[in-house]
Amino acid sequence: MTTGRGGADGAAPPAEARPLRVLFVCLGNICRSPLAEAIARRQAEEMGVADRFHFASAGTGDWHVGCGADPRSAATAQRFGLDLSHHRAQQITAAEIADWDWLIAMDRANRQQLLAMGAPPERVWMMRRFEAPDGNGMEDVPDPYYGGPEGFVLMYRLLRDNAHAIIEALLAQAR
Ligand code: 4NP
Repeated sequence: MTTGRGGADGAAPPAEARPLRVLFVCLGNICRSPLAEAIARRQAEEMGVADRFHFASAGTGDWHVGCGADPRSAATAQRFGLDLSHHRAQQITAAEIADWDWLIAMDRANRQQLLAMGAPPERVWMMRRFEAPDGNGMEDVPDPYYGGPEGFVLMYRLLRDNAHAIIEALLAQAR
């Protein structure tokens, strides 16, 4: 993963000037987290705060490293005006955890994996963290990989509906 932070001279810029580094994390980095990244980037632009963030995405698994987004995710993105054609899947490893200010997990298994890699729990948020509980234990953005097309629409809706609150909360944390 190419995640280096800091300038060529190695000096870190002042905290308030540095964009928040936010990594969206799923299992394969071909379905959910690439779309989460694209949606967050668009919403941050719409909110006028794009310059406050550096968004990226990664998977906890390595099966798809170097591959493009899943065609079903890419088609869903395109349907809603987003372009995943430049996406290339990458894996997050324990050595790279410290490169990120915030890790946004799509599901509970992703979160557990990040914690097992040594990520500080307070820096690992669930994507649906700020959604009102629905009473069905639906804390996850469900993995659509093995399901039908409806799973991709649900994924888009959940990501779209939760990105704004995540962005607001990250900005509040930075103040
Ligand atoms: P993602 O979906 O984690 O949202 O990218 C998956 C992609 C691939 C696999 C599982 C989930 N897989 O088992 O290969």
